[in-house]
Amino acid sequence: MHKIIIEGGKELSGEIKISGSKNSAVALVPAAVLCDEEVTIANVPNISDIDALDEILNHLGATVTRNDDMIKIDSSKIENKVIPEVISKKLRASYYFMGALLSKFKKVEMYFPGGCSIGARPINLHLKGFEALGAKVQDKDNMFVITADNLRGAKINLDFASVGATINIMLAAVKAEGTTVISNAAKEPHIVNVATFLNNMGAKISGAGTSEIKIVGVNHLHSCFHEVVPDYIEAGTYMILASIIGKKVTVSNIIPDHLESLISKLEDIGVPMEIGIDFIRISAPDKLMATNIKTQVYPGFPTDLQQPMATLLTQAVGKSIINETIWENRFLNLNELNKMGATTELLSNSKAVIVGPTKLHGKKVKATDLRAGASLVIAGLVADGKTTIENADYILRGYEGIVDKLTNVGAKIKLEQSNE
Ligand code: EPZ
Repeated sequence: MHKIIIEGGKELSGEIKISGSKNSAVALVPAAVLCDEEVTIANVPNISDIDALDEILNHLGATVTRNDDMIKIDSSKIENKVIPEVISKKLRASYYFMGALLSKFKKVEMYFPGGCSIGARPINLHLKGFEALGAKVQDKDNMFVITADNLRGAKINLDFASVGATINIMLAAVKAEGTTVISNAAKEPHIVNVATFLNNMGAKISGAGTSEIKIVGVNHLHSCFHEVVPDYIEAGTYMILASIIGKKVTVSNIIPDHLESLISKLEDIGVPMEIGIDFIRISAPDKLMATNIKTQVYPGFPTDLQQPMATLLTQAVGKSIINETIWENRFLNLNELNKMGATTELLSNSKAVIVGPTKLHGKKVKATDLRAGASLVIAGLVADGKTTIENADYILRGYEGIVDKLTNVGAKIKLEQSNE
């Protein structure tokens, strides 16, 4: 395990270049398996989640070559093997191999996926989609065996606009016979990125980015080149940081439209922003105003920015309420923030109150999940004194080059092996 050590209280300025989206890349890599030829994906973030997916591809016998942010994947000779639990447990997104292998081989055997401890993280909507397409799902001691004589297009309504279920059903439907319509589909930018990748291979998908996605089955998917969309959650995390201690911090290589809900919130909080075509420049105002946050599916305020935003709200004047509507256990960072001097309180497992501004002091704290870790990095940079964040490997899962990117804007931050 690693730990991150920060000497806080420094003003940050300069440019932070955003990488490819983790939540898109972790879907694109398994989706590549659907292709009968080699595909190339650019702007892939160099994060441990991608390494784990690499392991699965190699286990299946795919030929994978990675250099810098490019990954070439040739799945023409892969075998349909059981994916070992030790690998699939490493990340939630391993479940995209369910849709991809079911589509390619009409059979997949996989263990329940892993992922951050932010909630129960069921996959019932994924399995409902596979069954609607004609698959049979058996659950043998946490190992799913999903088989289909044939996959036929179907009309599938999602009880909840689930990102994972939308993408997984899309993967399973792309070579099914006939037409599939997913209604109440998720609309996140990564859904569009995956649909575009599949269409570049020759799939026939329309409506991605709206709540109704139509997939007309095709027989063959061919080689193509594709690019991962910029990571709007990484971008939002650094925008939140700049809003507290930034001076002309430019967050670049982004699509501002993907951050509309955050931009609107930061305006309410009193943060002036210069918004360009592919960058946003922020200098922290003298005073941050308290506000209320309610997480919602895209394009609402993203749940993945709720924990980083909690740290900002400890510095805002007044009382803020956070209402987390997506995950039932996504406030684990608040205890750690309180250790550093914040005044926060859980009102229920979906509601918390934060009163500010409070002076934060460097402490030894623990990351409990990826975005909780990001919240603590921001707190460590804002606090005076030294902060040590244990379990920093959570953070490395989703923030490419975070130590270098922050060092480049003046932070005193380093990564060390931890003997905890
Ligand atoms: C994706 O998770 C992201 N992960 C999450 O980001 C993100 O928080 C989430 O979407 C919402 O935006 C990846 O893309 C790898 P969901 P996912 O299916 O697909 C319920 C991060 O920090 N649900 O949209 O798992 C579920 O319990 C991570 O980068 C079911 O009930 O999210 C939750 O309440 C954390 N049954 C809600 O839907 C299902 O079958 C959202 O889940 C599936 C989901």
